[in-house]
Amino acid sequence: MNVAVHIFNVLIFFLGESLSEPSNKKFPENFKFGVATAAYQIEGGWADDGKGVSVWDQFAHTYPDRVANGDNGDVACDSYHRYLEDVEMLANMGVNHYRFSLSWPRILPTGYTNQINEAGVTYYKNLISALKENGIEPFITLYHGDLPQTLQDIGGWPNPLLADIFAEFARTAFSLFGDDVKNWTTINEPKQTCITGYGLGNSAPGAPASGIGEYDCMHTLLRAHAKAYHIYDEEFRATQNGRVSIVLDTAWFEPASDSEDDIEAAERALQFEHGWCAHPVYHPDGNYPQVMIDRIAERSQKEGFSKSRLPEFSAEEVDYIRGTFDFLSLNTYTTNLAKWTTDHEIGTPGYYADLSVSTYQDPSWNGSAWIKVVPWGLRKLLNWIDQTYDHPEIVITENGYADDGRLDDPDRINYYAEYLTAVLESIYEDGLNVTAYTAWSLMDNFEWTSGYTIKFGLYQVDFENPNRTRTIKSSADYYKNVIANKCLVDTCEE
Ligand SMILES: *[C@@H]1O[C@H](CO)[C@@H](O)[C@H](O)[C@H]1NC(C)=O
Ligand SMILES: *[C@@H]1O[C@H](CO)[C@@H](O)[C@H](O)[C@H]1NC(C)=O
Ligand SMILES: *[C@@H]1O[C@H](CO)[C@@H](O)[C@H](O)[C@H]1NC(C)=O
Ligand SMILES: *[C@@H]1O[C@H](CO)[C@@H](O)[C@H](O)[C@H]1NC(C)=O
Repeated sequence: MNVAVHIFNVLIFFLGESLSEPSNKKFPENFKFGVATAAYQIEGGWADDGKGVSVWDQFAHTYPDRVANGDNGDVACDSYHRYLEDVEMLANMGVNHYRFSLSWPRILPTGYTNQINEAGVTYYKNLISALKENGIEPFITLYHGDLPQTLQDIGGWPNPLLADIFAEFARTAFSLFGDDVKNWTTINEPKQTCITGYGLGNSAPGAPASGIGEYDCMHTLLRAHAKAYHIYDEEFRATQNGRVSIVLDTAWFEPASDSEDDIEAAERALQFEHGWCAHPVYHPDGNYPQVMIDRIAERSQKEGFSKSRLPEFSAEEVDYIRGTFDFLSLNTYTTNLAKWTTDHEIGTPGYYADLSVSTYQDPSWNGSAWIKVVPWGLRKLLNWIDQTYDHPEIVITENGYADDGRLDDPDRINYYAEYLTAVLESIYEDGLNVTAYTAWSLMDNFEWTSGYTIKFGLYQVDFENPNRTRTIKSSADYYKNVIANKCLVDTCEE
């Protein structure tokens, strides 16, 4: 981080501390508001009408002890049968776009294109036409965690062959749905898939290979994304005229003090947590961040490996992957502090040992679970992204707050008011190109290994009722007003 950026950050840190009133500026005329969900978290119908088994079906059924209360997504919000209720809720809030994901094994039960499940295709076609009838743009994520189990059986994402297999799925989806879809993202939060699935192995598919599996996984995912992007470019863009990106997630990392060491630690955390996947795609130079290349090579050598545990891209691959985006897509929820620490001892290899930064949250910050309400962190993150990746257009594809699912939810309203204020400041005071905001989530749903214990919804879902009855929360009324008026308070300055 250079000195100018740091001084700027210190400045907005102090401005941020006094931020409490929502902004009275109006969002730009073309600014888009939406909400998001993901297939496994809402659809249910896990074995209906020819759907194949996903790694999440398999993981939740095989290891109920690894998910809170032994929950799973077998029924979830039952959106496979109740999607018209979802569309009604979306229409009631007046959202501009609905970000949802495709279940790969619902469309391709074997994972491959040898067999297309017509019932799965029909489900998504019906959803898309219901959205369009209500003037809502479908915003599709091709992959959000639910890999076909057949592809896990050949090793999952660490197997380089999956790049081509994913590319075939992407081509199938573009050709089936692309006439009606202008916004595509390939892969949701590759860092989470790779670290929790293949590094720590505490989440689906539960295949731990710490310090190796997560890096091999990301290497394939980046190549898979780039292939899908190029396929869109070469075969679909001219006729479908849409855009494609990849969804990356990161918290903001604030130096724990203004010491040079903590500033370096925070920057290193950002380069690992965001740059690992962002640098190859969004940075004009491409490739992994140099700090990752150097540190992982050095630690691998000390551990006795013959080469770095971080795989290498050829020069051709660097070129092929870099620039494969039409906008920058960001999921973000909170802020962490980063403190310099001595490097972890050489021992068991692992991503967090390679990073060797101590991260934590200030105990005085309000919030729930791991989501502390730190809106100035969003503004700093947006500025860091703008400067690091050469002023991209930024679409916020997830941001939201978790609680116990109550209908009267002032904490969620406060979170949205504060984070959307940070978005307005980044647009009007910092001149950033943020063009859309997507709230996570439309409704309470299956929150991965937390099961149904934490609730992000604008609508409540009664998981005890076979009808999975949806009920509007106060925050949905609030968001509806924000969208209608493009304004966070009663009256905005014109
Ligand atoms: C989706 O793509 C269209 C066409 O490029 C664009 O006008 C619109 O703003 C995009 N929607 C979002 C939410 O980014
Ligand atoms: C933090 O919590 C206090 C006490 O509940 C509340 O008054 C305050 O508004 C909260 N602040 C933020 C930023 O959420
Ligand atoms: C934002 O990005 C879009 C797409 O690149 C571009 O058309 C637009 O001019 C940019 N707006 C600003 C204010 O930079
Ligand atoms: C579920 O919905 C049906 C149809 O509206 C209704 O008849 C039934 O009573 C509902 N069941 C429960 C448990 O609410």
